[in-house]
Formats: sequence, C-alpha cells, structure tokens
Amino acid sequence: MKTAFITGAATGIGEGLVLKLQSTGWRVYAGYRSAAPENSRWHQLDNVVPLRCDVQSEDDIRCVVERIEGDVGQLDLLINNAGCPGNSGVIEAADMDDYRRTFEINFWGPLAVAQAFMPLLRNAKGRIVNTTSASVYLTIPMGSSYPVSKVALKALSNHMRMEMAPFGVDVTSLEPGGVETPMTELGDDVGEMQWNTIPEPLRSQYKQYFLDGASAIGDNFKLYSAAHFAEQVYKKMIVPKKTKPSYLIGPGAAALPWLHRLLPTQQVLNIWTRMFSKK
Ligand SMILES: NC(=O)c1ccc[n+]([C@@H]2O[C@H](COP(=O)([O-])OP(=O)(O)OC[C@H]3O[C@@H](n4cnc5c(N)ncnc54)[C@H](OP(=O)(O)O)[C@@H]3O)[C@@H](O)[C@H]2O)c1
Repeated sequence: MKTAFITGAATGIGEGLVLKLQSTGWRVYAGYRSAAPENSRWHQLDNVVPLRCDVQSEDDIRCVVERIEGDVGQLDLLINNAGCPGNSGVIEAADMDDYRRTFEINFWGPLAVAQAFMPLLRNAKGRIVNTTSASVYLTIPMGSSYPVSKVALKALSNHMRMEMAPFGVDVTSLEPGGVETPMTELGDDVGEMQWNTIPEPLRSQYKQYFLDGASAIGDNFKLYSAAHFAEQVYKKMIVPKKTKPSYLIGPGAAALPWLHRLLPTQQVLNIWTRMFSKK
C-alpha cells in the first residue's frame, strides 16, 4: 500500500485529494491545522490518519515525520496543499505582517515540510506536489502577496525538481485554476474588505483607477468541484510514472500560459491592467 501525506487536508482541495487517494487504495496521513478533522468527509475512513500539522510549526512538522517514519519508514507522495489567500492591500500601504504571513504559509511552510520529508521520499523514490495557483500567470492590483508567494513556490518547485531527480524523487507543481472551496467562497463584501485594507486618503486615490477583484472578475467565473478537481489531479499527476514540471488544472485556465509564451511582458500586463481598471 502506498503512503501519502497532505497538508491542509481538512477542507477544500486537500479534503478532496484525501478522499480520492483513499478510494484508490492509498494510506493517507491527513494534515490539519484549525479546521476540526471530525468535520471532514474522510473522518473515520479506513487508512486515513489525521495528524495535526501547522506548516509554520517546526515541532508539528517533526512530529509528523517521526510518526510516518515509525509507521512505514518511507513516503510515496507529499502534497504541499496548505495555503492562505493573503489580504495585504496595495503595495504602497501593504500590511507587511499580512504579507509575511502569506509567505510563511505559502512559501516557507511548503519548503520546511518538503525538506523534512526528503529522506523518507528518497527511501520510496516518491513524489512531491507543490500547490501553487493559476494566479502565477496574473498581475492583480491590491492583491500581490498571494500570487507573488505562489510564483516563489513555483520557482522553488523547479529547483527541487532538479536537485531531487538524481535520487528518483519526482517534483511537480499543481496550479489550480478555480475550485469550489472555502477559499473561493468570497461572500458579497469581499470587494469592500479589499478597499478597507487601504487607509484614506490613498483609498480614494486608488479607487479612481482600479476595480477591486470582485468587481473586475464578477461572479460568473466557473469553478470545478473539489471532487472533480481531485479526479483530474489523480489522473494527470499521480498515476503517470513521470510528471511535467507543472500542471494548470481548472475551467477556462488553459490559455493563461499561452499569453506569456506569445506576448511580450508589457502586453500581458496591459491585459490585466485593462481588466482591473476603471473604464
Ligand atoms: N480553490 C481554488 O480555486 C484555488 C486556486 C488556486 C490555488 N489554490 C490553492 O489550493 C490550496 C488549497 O486551497 P483550497 O482552495 O482548498 O482552500 P481551503 O479549503 O481554504 O484550504 C486551505 C487549507 O490550508 C490550511 N492551512 C492554512 N494555513 C495553514 C498552516 N499554517 N498550516 C497548515 N495548514 C494551513 C487551512 O487550514 P485551516 O482550517 O487551519 O485554516 C485549509 O485547510 C491552497 O494552497 C490554495 O492557495 C486554490
């Protein structure tokens, strides 16, 4: 039986991946932080073991590694899934604590977890999946901390891929492009929340030029269910013997990398500027 560890597995994409792997015969260690594991749909399923793991806690990470090492001595699959959206506001007035916290969870956490599991992954010639985001292809006013932290994780993932390849450990990044989860349940006041991160008089100045994310994107964008998304991840990223460096999976997301392949950077920036600007 193959063994996986997934961070942030109590909700959303992580919960869906636990269910998919368990149903296909994997033993899954499901990392959780504040969301109660008893409320997860995998609670009490065979071969699913909940383990507390705040990716910002060295102690939690060490305990999880020791537990899996003691149980099975190796790890076939690590999915660095835990992440947070960040709400740092415009760069000129960014809440630097929020910016750092976003990096702690989206970049330093996955790095620390991957580093700690590398010996067990070598033992199994296993695989690391680092969850970034389709936002690595976007430029978003008032919301830079999230995409920038995910771009950093994507670059790190490529470095890991190169360094681990000689030891038979495969590393790839997963770029979700719209999945129905607690993170995408934005609520009606999300635009207002974004503006409130900017103190006056700057807020009024930025309002003359930019739309908040909710107003720019609207509420008609499509989302995959977590179950359908997990199916896709399983088929494309878990089953194959070898992976590509990254996988963009989501409804309508496939065109994003092509913009960057076909157009100079300024023209791509112009597209996002038009999308997020007041007409
Ligand atoms: N949904 C999408 O459309 C989408 C798009 C692009 C990328 N992603 C990425 O996909 C991943 C999963 O997100 P999701 O959409 O499934 O949202 P979600 O349900 O909110 O899942 C995020 C999970 O991360 C956990 N987490 C946050 N901080 C943590 C920490 N310090 N240590 C351990 N766990 C922590 C959360 O646990 P708590 O309950 O403790 O907060 C939560 O279970 C994230 O990396 C996200 O950035 C999602």
